[in-house]
Amino acid sequence: MPIILAIESSCDETSAAICEDGNILSNSIATQAVHAQYGGVIPELASRAHLQNIVPVVDIALNKAGKTLPEVDAFAFTQAPGLIGSLLVGAEFAKSLALSLDKPLITVNHMQAHVLANLIPDKKPSFPFLCLTVSGGHTQIVLCKSPVEMEVIGETIDDAAGEAFDKCAKLLGLPYPGGPLIDKYAKEGNPDRFQFPEPKIPGYNFSFSGLKTAILYFLMNAGKSQVYKQEFAASEEEKKQFIDENLADICASVQKRIITILLNKFSKAARELGIKDICIAGGVSANSGLRAAFTELGEKNGWNAFIPEFQYCTDNAGMIAITAYYKLLAGDFASLAAQPAARGFH
Ligand code: KG4
Ligand code: ZN
Repeated sequence: MPIILAIESSCDETSAAICEDGNILSNSIATQAVHAQYGGVIPELASRAHLQNIVPVVDIALNKAGKTLPEVDAFAFTQAPGLIGSLLVGAEFAKSLALSLDKPLITVNHMQAHVLANLIPDKKPSFPFLCLTVSGGHTQIVLCKSPVEMEVIGETIDDAAGEAFDKCAKLLGLPYPGGPLIDKYAKEGNPDRFQFPEPKIPGYNFSFSGLKTAILYFLMNAGKSQVYKQEFAASEEEKKQFIDENLADICASVQKRIITILLNKFSKAARELGIKDICIAGGVSANSGLRAAFTELGEKNGWNAFIPEFQYCTDNAGMIAITAYYKLLAGDFASLAAQPAARGFH
C-alpha cells in the first residue's frame, strides 16, 4: 500500500497531494492571486509565492489525508515543463524530504500528468485511449497506450487553446486569466450570433493565432463589418460600447469557435485511429461548453467519453500523484541529482 506525497509547482498554483495505493486522499491547492493585476503570470512573483505557500500546502495535504511525513513511502514532483524558478521550489522541497527521510524520489512530466488525471476516478478509460490535452501552454492530441507510453500525434503550431481564451478575453478588456470569464459570460450568450473563421491546418495539428487576429479586427470594426479584415471602422468609444452591449454573444461565439476547432480535429483523429475511449485534460477542460460538447461527441460516435473532476483539470498535485503511482509500479525512480527543466522530458 504505497503512500506518495506529490508536489506541483510548475506555474502559478502551489499544490500537494497524498495518494495511497492509487487513491487520491487529498489535493490541496493554493492559487496565486498576485498575477491578476499584471494580466499574466510574472515568473519571479510566482517563485516567491511558491516559497511562501509550499509548507502550509503540504501540511494541509497531510492533515486532510490523515497521514504524517514518516508514513510517506515516496516523494514526487513536477519536473517539466514549466517556469524554471517555480519548478525549482517544488523540486528542491521534494528532494529535501526524500533525502532527509531516506525515501525514493519520482519525477513527473506535467503534460503526462494532465492526461493521467483521467485515471483518478474508479471508472477509468481502457487503453489505448485518445486524450485532448488543452491548457494555457499546450494543445495536444495524445495517444495513450499505457500509463507510461504516450505519443503526441497532433499539437498547436502557435497559440495554445487556453492562450486563445486568455488573449481573446484580454481583447475584450477582461482580466487574466480570462478563460473562466469567457466561460461565465458565454452561458448567457448566443453562440451563433458571430461567425469566426476556422483555420485550415493539415493533419491533426491546431492553430489559434488567426482566431485572435480575426477577433481583434472584428472589435476594431465594432461589429460594423462581419469581414475580418483590418478596417479600423470604429472609434475606441464605439468599440467599448459594442463590447459592453454584446459581451455575452461575443464570448459565446468565441468559445464555440475554439471548441469546434478542437473537436473537429480530435474527432478526425479518433475516427481514423479507430479509438473507443476518449479523454480530455488540462485547464481548458474545465470549460463548461467544452465539457458538454465533448460528452455529446462521445454519445454521437459511440465513444466512451471521460472528463476529470473539476479540481483535477487545472494544475493540481493529484494528477502528479497518480502519475507517480504508475511510475512507482513500473519501478521508475529518479536520483537526488534530478533537475527540473522548463521544456522537454516528454
Ligand atoms: O492546465 P492549466 O491550469 O495550466 C497550464 O498548465 O497552462 O491551464 C490554464 C488555462 C488558462 O489559459 C485558463 O484560462 C484556462 O486554462 N481555463 C479555462 C477555464 N478554466 C481554466 N478556459 C476556458 N474556460 C474555463 N472554464
Ligand atoms: Zn497544466
